Amino acid sequence: MLGLRDLDVSEINHILDTAEGFEQISTRSVKKAPPLRGKVVANLFFEDSTRTRNSFTLAADRLSADVIEFTQKMSSVSKGETFLDTARNLEAMGVDIVVVRHVASGASRLLSRSISACVVNAGGGFCEHPTQGLLDIYTIRKIKKSLEGLKIGIVGDIAHSRVARSDIWGMSKLGAEVILVGPPTLMPPKVDELPVSVSYSLDDVLEELDVINMLRIQFERMGGNPFPSVREYSHFYGLTGERMQKAKDDILVMHPGPINRGVEIESEVADGKNSVILEQVKNGLAVRMAVLFLVNQAAAEKA
Ligand code: CP
Repeated sequence: MLGLRDLDVSEINHILDTAEGFEQISTRSVKKAPPLRGKVVANLFFEDSTRTRNSFTLAADRLSADVIEFTQKMSSVSKGETFLDTARNLEAMGVDIVVVRHVASGASRLLSRSISACVVNAGGGFCEHPTQGLLDIYTIRKIKKSLEGLKIGIVGDIAHSRVARSDIWGMSKLGAEVILVGPPTLMPPKVDELPVSVSYSLDDVLEELDVINMLRIQFERMGGNPFPSVREYSHFYGLTGERMQKAKDDILVMHPGPINRGVEIESEVADGKNSVILEQVKNGLAVRMAVLFLVNQAAAEKA
């Protein structure tokens, strides 16, 4: 499970439908199911994470798998061990599914060619973050029933966003019209080759949008400054209470997190009536349960 670019519509829908089935497990008094009993899931995180790592841990636990938690900071990577050697050593312990987050875009694909365990991309470089894309789509589908014909704005730092890429592939495949909004300096290279339109003005498109996904400015990934000041960026692209008055009453406000309050989104909007930000996090658990379940099922069918 490396990216939504690789999946067709029926595969995406199958994951979403499977997640629907898993959602009700979280409402039971005993929040466990047995499908991964006896299986081992390794969370290999070479980059910090709050939502994705804990969500995958809980998802694996709910499916009764044993879970290995690997974080670079407390590992032998500090002694010079490579990424592949680390993964191969964990695989030697009998790991069935490796969930990997890495700063390098191709890390999960490289790993999938180098080990025989299933590999799930938990966010790689600027490339894809497929389970975030799926949980975004799941959240929209749950509320709006379908993505067909919806106008979805993805706003901000598209250039450095793996979430944006997974959203673009997944949402456009399911029939949404995706509009990228931000300054030219934060648009990705070859944007004309993506299934999107582009606007450099949030105010020009806001009133048309059914969904708006606000992205964090990823200062840690930038060489220089892509805009004159944070204040100027917020002025033109920040989702403020005042700006929200131009939006549709039932617009869904999304954010993959972590939020920079007061930069890309004001607190009154992030915590306001249109916000589904914590719904996204909640739905992420069911989506990741579905992904772990399905990759394990696919591996069993292949064996
Ligand atoms: N959305 C997301 O990937 O958040 P984390 O970096 O906390 O996992």
